[in-house]
Amino acid sequence: MCCFHQRGHSNMLLSVLLLFTSLSCTCGENPAIQFILSNKGLQYGKHVGTDWIQESLERVTFPDISGEVDIGLLGSIDYTLSDITIIKCDLPEPTVEFYPDATGFKTSVQGLSIALTGGWRTHYHIIDISGSFEMAIFNINVVSVVELGKDPNGHLSVSSVSCDADVGDVDIQFHGGASWIFQPFVRYFKRHITNEIQRNICPNVKGILVNLESYLQSMNVSFDVDQVLTLDLPLTGLPVINASGLNLGFKGEFYNIKTHMEPPFKAQPFTMSEQQGYMFSVGVSEFTLNSAAYAYYSAGLFQADINDSTVFQYVHVHLNTTTVGKFIPQLPHMFPDQLMSLKFYAREVPVFSFQPDAVKLGFQGAVKAFALQPNGTQSPLFTLSFDSKFSGKMYISGERLKGSIQMDNFTLTLAASEVGTFKTDALEKVLTIGIKFNVVTQVNKKLGEGFPLPRMKRAQLVNSVLNVEEGFIAMSSDAEVVLTD
Ligand SMILES: *[C@@H]1O[C@H](CO)[C@@H](O)[C@H](O)[C@H]1NC(C)=O
Ligand SMILES: *[C@@H]1O[C@H](CO)[C@@H](O)[C@H](O)[C@H]1NC(C)=O
Ligand SMILES: *[C@@H]1O[C@H](CO)[C@@H](O)[C@H](O)[C@H]1NC(C)=O
Ligand SMILES: *[C@@H]1O[C@H](CO)[C@@H](O)[C@H](O)[C@H]1NC(C)=O
Ligand SMILES: *[C@@H]1O[C@H](CO)[C@@H](O)[C@H](O)[C@H]1NC(C)=O
Ligand SMILES: *[C@@H]1O[C@H](CO)[C@@H](O)[C@H](O)[C@H]1NC(C)=O
Repeated sequence: MCCFHQRGHSNMLLSVLLLFTSLSCTCGENPAIQFILSNKGLQYGKHVGTDWIQESLERVTFPDISGEVDIGLLGSIDYTLSDITIIKCDLPEPTVEFYPDATGFKTSVQGLSIALTGGWRTHYHIIDISGSFEMAIFNINVVSVVELGKDPNGHLSVSSVSCDADVGDVDIQFHGGASWIFQPFVRYFKRHITNEIQRNICPNVKGILVNLESYLQSMNVSFDVDQVLTLDLPLTGLPVINASGLNLGFKGEFYNIKTHMEPPFKAQPFTMSEQQGYMFSVGVSEFTLNSAAYAYYSAGLFQADINDSTVFQYVHVHLNTTTVGKFIPQLPHMFPDQLMSLKFYAREVPVFSFQPDAVKLGFQGAVKAFALQPNGTQSPLFTLSFDSKFSGKMYISGERLKGSIQMDNFTLTLAASEVGTFKTDALEKVLTIGIKFNVVTQVNKKLGEGFPLPRMKRAQLVNSVLNVEEGFIAMSSDAEVVLTD
């Protein structure tokens, strides 16, 4: 801290303070979306990974190995091994485990053996000879510990904590040329090549991790959903790992692309229970849904214009002052037999809440009614406010997300009127029935058919279940990865 007392460092102090305030803002945030990888998922991932490595190893190409072997009094021999290809590889199933000590994973491969062929060429004084060789590398053991973290932009990061490799033995047979001359020196080659291979394993493991890290860094943490919504998904904190699972917390907030305005509510913490029977679980808090509702609301999208030719063509009534006049006796006298139009809009941000086994939605809206004059003018008639409450269920069946809703309450009040007051009880009853038998029935038909679960090119979800809990929904699932088409 002493340096801050010196003159000329006030700018630095300021920027350090700014850094801390900006850090404390992002650190205090509760994740609205959580992902848990269970040990079952880790082991499945390892299994798929092992198959993939086994397949990739057969296509791997090696750089030439060249060096100089000291053969004591006789000086040294330059050699090059080229065109090295794997002919056989026995990759024993590695072990992978959650490693809380390093907030990461510990992977170990014991007893990997590889058979290779290639060409050799040596240069000893003026003798230049070449031939082919066969090499077997036995008992390669590799233990690698990888740490997971979070970079300042909320990407997941990986880094190598430790890597140990040793090679049990190498067996080489030289063929062709004057290979018999060199066979006595095989033990020198062996030691040299064994060291060379051993020295290269961990840098290769680290190289893979560096590639993975730069891939993770290049991933987007923000996704545009449509013209209006963007979903922010950076990590909110460091990954949490214990012996039975990995937990990642994501921001999970929708924003209006144009305004990027924060809603006047915050994500509440929630705790998902670990489901060891499933590979992974994803929890989505009601905050995520409500941030989307807020973004749509602030973009002015919760509104709709309805007239006689839109909705009412399906129903055998017309939207005109004669029909509506049955509920407002003075209306047909003031505006005889004129078509009407309605403007629906939300008065408040619609609010979703998740409760055990139920999704609740409160929607407070209003409808402004107009008479369409023969000369094209829209004359305002009245404004009705309505408060509606819906509850629903969500579940997964046949790999589809399904649900159902019902309307629990609907109340109507007169908010303003250009045609004098009128009673709303009868209209409320008719609209309640109308909404229940038309709107709710239509929505339930759609929800009953369901929506397919998200699918990736090489992975699909199987055995998925969905539970609605206090404040969040949790989906637990297995995955099936198909590596070859
Ligand atoms: C990240 O987002 C940008 C713009 O939305 C897009 O062009 C790019 O392809 C995305 N990158 C990845 C890796 O998805
Ligand atoms: C690991 O952490 C989860 C919460 O993320 C907890 O439910 C579980 O009991 C923990 N397991 C062990 C073995 O500590
Ligand atoms: C009724 O609404 C539709 C769609 O919103 C619009 O195309 C049509 O012009 C409207 N009709 C009248 C008479 O305003
Ligand atoms: C208004 O509605 C009534 C009954 O639905 C219908 O008989 C009448 O023809 C309609 N008038 C206009 C102008 O659409
Ligand atoms: C349209 O007709 C109504 C009623 O006859 C009248 O009050 C209004 O001023 C007229 N508007 C225009 C633009 O002519
Ligand atoms: C509907 O809501 C109103 C006010 O919010 C309440 O007075 C009424 O009891 C509710 N009705 C039902 C059936 O829940």
